[in-house]
Amino acid sequence: MKKFYITTPLYYVNDEPHIGHAYTTILVDVISRIHKMNGEDVYFLTGTDEHGQKVQEAAEKRNVTPLNHVNEYVNRFKSVWKKLNINYNDFIRTTEKRHTDKVKDILNLLKNNGDIYMDEYEGLYSVSEERFITDKEAEEGIFRQVKTLKEKNYFFKMSKYQNKLIKHINSHQDFIKPESRKNEILGFLKKDLNDLCISRPKSRLSWGIELPFDNKYVTYVWFDALLNYITAIGWESDIKKFNYYWPADYHLMAKDILTTHCVYWPTMLMACNISLPKTIFAHGWWLIDDNKMSKSVGNIIKPLDLADKYGVDALRYYLMRNMVLGQDASYSFNSFKERYNADLANDYGNLVNRIFILIKKYYNNYIPEPGNYDKFDLEVISKTKKLVIEINHAYDVLKIHEGIENTLNLIRTVNKFFEIKTPWKSVKENNDQKSKSATTLYIAAEILRIASCFLYPIIPSKAGSIIQALNNHPNEQYDYNTSFGMLKPNNKLDDIKNIFPRID
Ligand code: MSP
Repeated sequence: MKKFYITTPLYYVNDEPHIGHAYTTILVDVISRIHKMNGEDVYFLTGTDEHGQKVQEAAEKRNVTPLNHVNEYVNRFKSVWKKLNINYNDFIRTTEKRHTDKVKDILNLLKNNGDIYMDEYEGLYSVSEERFITDKEAEEGIFRQVKTLKEKNYFFKMSKYQNKLIKHINSHQDFIKPESRKNEILGFLKKDLNDLCISRPKSRLSWGIELPFDNKYVTYVWFDALLNYITAIGWESDIKKFNYYWPADYHLMAKDILTTHCVYWPTMLMACNISLPKTIFAHGWWLIDDNKMSKSVGNIIKPLDLADKYGVDALRYYLMRNMVLGQDASYSFNSFKERYNADLANDYGNLVNRIFILIKKYYNNYIPEPGNYDKFDLEVISKTKKLVIEINHAYDVLKIHEGIENTLNLIRTVNKFFEIKTPWKSVKENNDQKSKSATTLYIAAEILRIASCFLYPIIPSKAGSIIQALNNHPNEQYDYNTSFGMLKPNNKLDDIKNIFPRID
């Protein structure tokens, strides 16, 4: 069985989950489900980033210890993911012992190899970002609370790996995606890379993983958090598991954390002599009125506000359909409503209703047996086969929106086929098995099943209930089959209610 290891970023535990976080997590869930349905052994990892200044300050404000604070706050993420039907295999928290122990081992390893050294550094420091920034970054004005700081710290020899990294990027076409992001990173690497400051003195910040070789310091949060991708799958603790799943097939994230993932992370791995992930994929941002959705701007949309009101699947569908992977997308309630009504209530919902009502009324709820196919039947079947190939390809190259659009094309094709065939008329003349209407309804129900299989990763609950009602119980690993003709005649349909009521 082929393995497939995919990750989301570790979200800052202090943040309230919003639809930006939900987007990446749903996307990874969708990709995981697609790969599971293709019979792969999927490992989907998510989790929370729990150390650093902001957590320490938030805990102080609430008058609780940082550990109590994160133990409480992590549940906000866990409960939202549960409600959004996120099927992760593992949730890692950077405060867990399985992680902190191994971060210390790696720090020791790099120190012993001579890749970590101490130095005094004077430079511009952004308190809000918790890192030293370059003069150019300071000029750009995007960092807040900037001050000059002189401090002794530990540094990772990131610069030593610059050329090796450039070579790797150039010789592995799939390493950074999309292409524009790869070029951005290659542009960034044209300048000399600085070494990375990987410690913070405890006098300034105590909430972090203590350096194993100097107890007056804790580890810089990014150095700590990035390592989750290998500690979670058992680096140097469960060697069999680690060797099986590593390298990751995909690290998914938005473009805001491209540099940390495409420069810090691979050079850290090189220093540890660990192979690099196959693909780092950065998607765009969800914007509101041209601004990135974020807590500091104060424009966040909470995923459950929409999911509780209109359904989890409605939210999942909108987020997956309305963002072209790699580009930014704008959220508005109007675009949500339009998308839902057009695709789910009208196209998909209507087709489900039409098919189920006719089969119930004229075939006693049993899927009719088709007769000989005429020209129109053969045309619609051949179009279906063509679209199936296209959808599979789109899903394969992560063009999720395109896969969905072509699935909707499939559904619209059946709606048109119905207009030509008018089974509601022909069935009144003859509702025998193998009659015209029996053939039309069989074809339509079968294409509905195929379309529902493709929608299943996106809207698992609703599409799953339709596949089940057609009596083809889905089992992600074995029964996902989109070949035409798998639907069995004479199966009894379950009743189905109006699955996508219109939003007015
Ligand atoms: N803790 C770091 C990541 C460490 S990974 C080892 C971090 N956390 S975060 O909470 O800020 O999450 C950032 C990620 O959340 C983005 O890369 C993206 O996946 C998701 N998003 C947050 N806001 C988003 C939008 N407005 N739009 C799209 N995705 C967004 O960075």
